[in-house]
Amino acid sequence: MIRIIGFLFGIILFINCKNTAPPTATGLVTEKAMVVSARVEASKIGSDIIQKGGNVFDAMVATELALAVAYPYAGNIGGGGFMVYRMANGEIGGLDYREKAPLAAHKDMYLDSLGNVIPDKSTLGATAVGVPGTVAGVMAVHEKFGSLPLKEILAPVIRLAEKGVIVTEKQAKRLDDYRDIFIKVNSDTTFFATVYKQGDSIKYPALAKTLQKISEQGKDGFYKGDVAEKLANFIQAKGGYVTMEDLEKYEAKWRSPISFNYRDLKIISMSPPSSGGFTINQIFKMMEPYDVSSFGHNSVKSIQLFIEAARRAYADRNYFLGDPDYVEIPLNELLSEQYLKERMQNFSFDKATKSSAVSHGAVQIVESDQTTHYSIVDSFGNAIAATTTINGGFGSKLYSDELGFFLNNEMDDFSAKPGVPNMFGLVGAEANSIAAEKRMLSSMTPTIVEKDGKLWMVVGSPGGSTIITAVAQTILNCYEFNMSMQDAVNTPRFHHQWLPDAIIFEPDGFPASLVTDLKNKGYIINEENTPVIGKVDAIKVLPNGKLEGGADKRGDDTAVGF
Ligand code: GLY
Repeated sequence: MIRIIGFLFGIILFINCKNTAPPTATGLVTEKAMVVSARVEASKIGSDIIQKGGNVFDAMVATELALAVAYPYAGNIGGGGFMVYRMANGEIGGLDYREKAPLAAHKDMYLDSLGNVIPDKSTLGATAVGVPGTVAGVMAVHEKFGSLPLKEILAPVIRLAEKGVIVTEKQAKRLDDYRDIFIKVNSDTTFFATVYKQGDSIKYPALAKTLQKISEQGKDGFYKGDVAEKLANFIQAKGGYVTMEDLEKYEAKWRSPISFNYRDLKIISMSPPSSGGFTINQIFKMMEPYDVSSFGHNSVKSIQLFIEAARRAYADRNYFLGDPDYVEIPLNELLSEQYLKERMQNFSFDKATKSSAVSHGAVQIVESDQTTHYSIVDSFGNAIAATTTINGGFGSKLYSDELGFFLNNEMDDFSAKPGVPNMFGLVGAEANSIAAEKRMLSSMTPTIVEKDGKLWMVVGSPGGSTIITAVAQTILNCYEFNMSMQDAVNTPRFHHQWLPDAIIFEPDGFPASLVTDLKNKGYIINEENTPVIGKVDAIKVLPNGKLEGGADKRGDDTAVGF
């Protein structure tokens, strides 16, 4: 009898171990520190700063600004972003360096006399530009937490701009795709009117000079004096609204992140005016009552559950969220367990819920997807997740040849006309309407995850409204489906955002039989649109304390560390 019990115990232990044995790392593994970003140059500069004794915040300043040089498609000093941090002692916080509307902005600024949205006005050229926040953001980080002198941190970034950045195959294609629009918005003498081929090196002398000013004068080197004057004059000469007063008044804001528990994880993500933390909080809490891992990765059941939670979460996100300094958001109510349980009461694995049956109202928001994310862990055990953007690819396409950078078109992330479709057929909500100095709603989801009270993952993604699903699925891939960090990033993703009521799948990864099964349950699949969903850059702390990077193979993203 004792032998039989021993045998059964052994089997149970074996099955358990099999289920919980950690996956073999498939990404870069390092001992102490790591930076994962969209470009190898930026990851290397950030990692070098840590190797020189800098902390995660010094590395953030260096990486963010190096992306402005090496990845002008989304890296920037003409845009804004969000950062979430977790210190080695468990202290957490968040920084909002989102762009804001200029003082001259008002609710109807993108409407004509008949109340119709004026094509291109919020997307292309100077009229689309919000007050940039990136330099204020990194300077606020350095002032509060930096340990190395600013000049030492910026020196390799300035060197990179002077020395030049090698054009990758993907970058050459992008520059080619956008060249006509650069010329249309600027002129045929603009810096990026030049044809650059793969392997060419692009030097950025004007940007190097602007960065030098920032290195010498900090925030004032951008928001006051010479650079501010040139920038405001340039935007206004091109018909835009940003003034020197707007620049001088810009402040980054420290905000408490959204944090919540999912089983034995604590997930820490950005609070409004980003919708990222709120929306993943709702999705995870709606999924938590189910035995997710037993459904299997990307199975019909796990896809259904995720989609039904996302459908309900995006409906609330689109209706309720905006800049918390301007709108009352009932966060406690919307994130309460009771409310989320009630939201899932009409969910059944038998058939799809129709989005028309899910309140709130006929509202829908989609942001442009050309953002970039980087994750950093330093040798002291501190971590940051930062997502930064100029909104569209190369922002508004407006490029200051004198200062050396693109300006954002973030004003398009507001609802130009609440309740009515804009020129893209998109509809936004009143909570995200335009007002002077208000911040536009974002989907950026820089996220840090603790497991059993210890740092476990740093993660984030570009991808507009798909950021939220890319981040949530990456966490689930590691936690519920026991994937390595790199595999969790690589594996194909799917997305649903309430409206339009359709699932999109990445190409090659979802068998026809699975699509048929979902259709049979009433799900609508957008089979024409199979885009890349997010570009996740993440780091996982392995059980032995080493770090595994997940650098998205969908881009030129690279992990560097030591
Ligand atoms: N511009 C994209 C976002 O903020 O979500």
